[in-house]
Amino acid sequence: MPNTVVVGAQWGDEGKGKIIDLLADAADVIIRFQGGNNAGHTVVLDTGEEFVLHLVPSGILHRGKLCVIGNGVVVDPEALIAEIDALTHRKVPVDEQLLVSDQAHLIFPYHKMLDKLKEARVGPGKIGTTGRGIGPCYTDKVARTGIRFADLLDDAVFRQKLRYNVEEKNEAFTRLYRAPQVRFDGIYQQYVRYRDRIARYACNGTVVLNRALADGKSLLFEGAQGTWLDIDHGTYPYVTSSSATAGGACTGSGIGPRHIDRVIGVVKAYTTRVGEGPFPTEFPPALMERIRTKGKEFGATTGRPRRCGWFDAVLVRQAILINGIDEIAVTKLDVLDDSPTVKICVGYRLDGRVATEPPGTIDAWTRCEPVYEEHPGWLTDTAASTGPEDLPPPAQAYLRRVAELLRTRISIVSVGSKRDQAFRMC
Ligand code: IMP
Repeated sequence: MPNTVVVGAQWGDEGKGKIIDLLADAADVIIRFQGGNNAGHTVVLDTGEEFVLHLVPSGILHRGKLCVIGNGVVVDPEALIAEIDALTHRKVPVDEQLLVSDQAHLIFPYHKMLDKLKEARVGPGKIGTTGRGIGPCYTDKVARTGIRFADLLDDAVFRQKLRYNVEEKNEAFTRLYRAPQVRFDGIYQQYVRYRDRIARYACNGTVVLNRALADGKSLLFEGAQGTWLDIDHGTYPYVTSSSATAGGACTGSGIGPRHIDRVIGVVKAYTTRVGEGPFPTEFPPALMERIRTKGKEFGATTGRPRRCGWFDAVLVRQAILINGIDEIAVTKLDVLDDSPTVKICVGYRLDGRVATEPPGTIDAWTRCEPVYEEHPGWLTDTAASTGPEDLPPPAQAYLRRVAELLRTRISIVSVGSKRDQAFRMC
């Protein structure tokens, strides 16, 4: 299989876990390259068994596949250990398959506290984060005060860096947030215990992955979140703090861009987002309720209800440019089965003109009104479809129109959560 990057082309939760799971059979190494346990990738096996993965690449469910957590990921050791234990308990041989880059930054309790305090402080202007400490951890990384996995493995370095951070964060807790301080000793001892558990997974990710490339192995990069949550390209500031786009696969793993052969963008047949921020095609309440219930649109990480809306071709078209997407996987087509009509947003009406590109400021985003094309629904159950020819003609026409608007081939369609409820389009 060509070295492949899979990214979300909307606001996350596009069903990337399922697509990775489908592709993982033909890959040798599966790599997470950004984000942390803010992600929730759900995979349902043929047996009906459901796994929700937050940090460990979804490829772990395929025996013998090497899974690497890259340097671009922020790792909460507590969450990682909980996930390893849960997988091991369900007989997944994690220890034989998992490696973690020693350059990955670690999340500490003060990051989680800061995440929540900051959100509470800004009140109505909050981002609606997952509260997992992701933003504050990346803030430390960029400020060059973060603590990496390799630092944890060297006790003297770890003590010194942790002491500095505890002092700095306590200043913020006291002066800015009027919140209780954290204690060095408690965190130090807790992280030494974590070190004993996770040291075995530490690796030089760059070396491991480049050796795999030299050996002719194929790499599959598992994006988390989505293009419109990307720190550079998303609906800033209503974004996550990492590079959720295809470029992040290189910086977040330590391989060169010339090794990437293919980029697959995953989209839902409609759109969802969790947390605050603009969403031009958001449904009115009754339709929102119906699609949310049918699509089980509740966050895999926080359980929060997802906001739902029509497919937005303006958003996805720009995501195709940002990521260099070669082909599209469309998920959850079946969720639209009961809709008498289906709409596709083809432009935004803003200040008296129709734009076919997204605007540059949040203020403009919130004033955008979607311009829709309306298509007949199919009012037929598609969940048992095993090929494009099984889809009712209006569903085929809908997909054809989406591909036409995106000027990109649709290669995979998924019509349910199980492994066999997906097929290739050609
Ligand atoms: P953070 O990543 O926890 O800082 O949250 C920032 C924004 O990204 C919030 O709107 C979250 O709801 C959103 N977000 C983070 N991770 C995911 C995800 O995996 N799926 C969907 N939204 C996410």
